[in-house]
Amino acid sequence: MTKTSKQLRVFSGVQPTGNLTLGNYIGALSQWVTHQADNETIFCVVDLHTLTIPDSISPQERRQKIREVVGLYLACGIDPKKSVIFVQSHMKQHTELAWLLTCVTPLGWMERMTQFKSKSHKQESIGSGLLMYPVLQAADILLYETDLVPVGEDQKQHIEIACDIAQRFNHLFGETFRLPKAVIPKSGARIMGFDDPTAKMSKSIAQVKSGHAVGLLDDEKAIKKTIMSAVTDSKQEFSLEDASPGVLNLLTIYEVLTKTAREDAVNRFNGKGYGHLKKDVFEAVMEVVAPIQQRYLQYSAEPGFIEDVVKEGAESITPLADKVMRSALQATGMG
Ligand code: AMP
Ligand code: TRP
Repeated sequence: MTKTSKQLRVFSGVQPTGNLTLGNYIGALSQWVTHQADNETIFCVVDLHTLTIPDSISPQERRQKIREVVGLYLACGIDPKKSVIFVQSHMKQHTELAWLLTCVTPLGWMERMTQFKSKSHKQESIGSGLLMYPVLQAADILLYETDLVPVGEDQKQHIEIACDIAQRFNHLFGETFRLPKAVIPKSGARIMGFDDPTAKMSKSIAQVKSGHAVGLLDDEKAIKKTIMSAVTDSKQEFSLEDASPGVLNLLTIYEVLTKTAREDAVNRFNGKGYGHLKKDVFEAVMEVVAPIQQRYLQYSAEPGFIEDVVKEGAESITPLADKVMRSALQATGMG
């Protein structure tokens, strides 16, 4: 993994909880694939983050989900010959760096995070890991001298705080960390639920509400049902001027999946009933999801393949993680 002067280093990750959704694909994974062509790319399955809500899944499910998410990375087009794919908990440096960063992070910064506020409201008792979630995320990013972090819009605040934490450490102990930047797609950065276009499509809502999301591993019948039942509005025909959030969500999904410009998409659906829009969205989704499912089955059936990919991934980035960890420790007078 040698980095030429033109390349930037790209890092991102997804938590192995729930079933990866169309929102994950559009907001994150499809962007990752395009970065592989010009940049040095590192993609992580962030399993340690799942412990921030400790009883959200059982240990057996967690183990199975980690494997599933690696399989989906591969199936979506992350190529282990071009990108590093690894599992966060296989690299002890993430938690080690997270401690150094915890100590320089003001408590108030963490308490103000929107995701903490919304997640903590839903829990009866909160582990301190949930509060410190963004520090572990900062460690993931800073450990690899990351330039760019491609994510959906909901992660913008977390990347900004990673940058603030890096700056604070650099200010206290001298230049140590490279400052990362979020890359948010212009279109599709926030795909909404099919059942409720005011809520972001999310893996966790999908676990308790059918009709909310298309899961990348859902069968065709379920996908059709979800899309054809999508909430639109009481009007009969498509028109952009008074399109409701549900209609705009369907339009955005159509545009990004078929790489169609807004003007062309509007011309296609103008004056036609919503059934037409939904049918075209369904076909566009299947065109993307069917080959992903086929490849997923192949990769997950090949004995040892997924395990080898993540083992080689972790080995290849160990020297970089060790170097950054050593310099962070040395900056503080340790190590
Ligand atoms: P998560 O499901 O929270 O682990 O998110 C993994 C990645 O997918 C992050 O980069 C998120 O910003 C992105 N993502 C999740 N849900 C959506 C969505 N509904 N629309 C766009 N991006 C999303
Ligand atoms: N918090 C991210 C999410 O829920 C997952 C994540 C953890 C991440 N570490 C990261 C994303 C580092 C990008 C970079 O989507």
